[in-house]
Amino acid sequence: MPKADDIVPPSKNATSASASSGTGQFETGIRYDLFTRLLHLCIVVGVVSQMLVSLVMVYPKPGRPENAWFELHEMVGLSLLGVFTAHWIWSIVKMRVFAEPLLLFPWFSTQARRALQQDLIETLREVRQFRLPYSRTATPLPAAIQGLGLLLGLFLAATGAIIFFGMEADGKMSGLIHGVKEVHGAVSVLMWVYLAVHPTLGILHHFAGHDVLTRVFWFGR
Ligand code: HEM
Ligand code: HEM
Repeated sequence: MPKADDIVPPSKNATSASASSGTGQFETGIRYDLFTRLLHLCIVVGVVSQMLVSLVMVYPKPGRPENAWFELHEMVGLSLLGVFTAHWIWSIVKMRVFAEPLLLFPWFSTQARRALQQDLIETLREVRQFRLPYSRTATPLPAAIQGLGLLLGLFLAATGAIIFFGMEADGKMSGLIHGVKEVHGAVSVLMWVYLAVHPTLGILHHFAGHDVLTRVFWFGR
């Protein structure tokens, strides 16, 4: 998340792909703090590997042993539970201590929901004109969607942890744990959707001359 000073209404600082492409210059703007960048990197590596490993892993059932990929899925999954929890705690600390708005979770604030609605309308207007909306500051809509990704990750990691602690060594599960496993598998499809959209938008922005990739991945400034 950005520094508090960086947050202004989106309309004041917004620009679009067509406005900035062709200049050959990268737009620069918000700068995520180092810890947020580190957490994001852990999330990228952890979530991408979880999704790929899920394609080759075999989880245990009575009479069918697990394979090594499933053990990796368990270990990375438990680590991700720590990373997602740390991300939310850090976001709340920044809100309480540094007075940064919690743009990742606007749902319980009328003011934040109104800003989100306004940003959605402005985004749709830009998209209808085939422009890629970009802002040098933090804007409500992308942040709210990234927050949903974080909630989704936390949910998968938490249900995974319930499976981990509730399943017997031979893979036997009670009805409840079996239900949690089914929900975990069904909800994980949404993570594929998130992974198809969120990084793609980052790459599109990059080629439009916006600095979104560097501001979240670059550790050198
Ligand atoms: C301790 C942590 C975790 C455990 C023990 C765990 C366990 C499991 C189990 C038993 C399945 C098989 C579900 C089924 O086929 O019905 C599964 C599937 C899956 N898990 Fe996890 N999981 C954990 C964390 C995570 C995390 C953090 C993610 C992603 C961020 C994730 C993504 C997936 C995906 C994509 C599938 C495949 C679903 C399917 O194809 O049906 N898991 N996991
Ligand atoms: C290959 C994978 C990924 C890529 C290339 C990627 C790329 C990016 C980019 C470019 C930004 C900056 C957006 C901006 O400044 O407007 C960003 C921010 C963010 N991304 Fe990702 N991302 C990836 C995976 C994920 C995943 C899996 C999650 C969550 C489940 C996630 C959650 C976030 C969040 C919450 C932010 C805001 C910064 C923060 O608070 O950490 N990203 N990402």
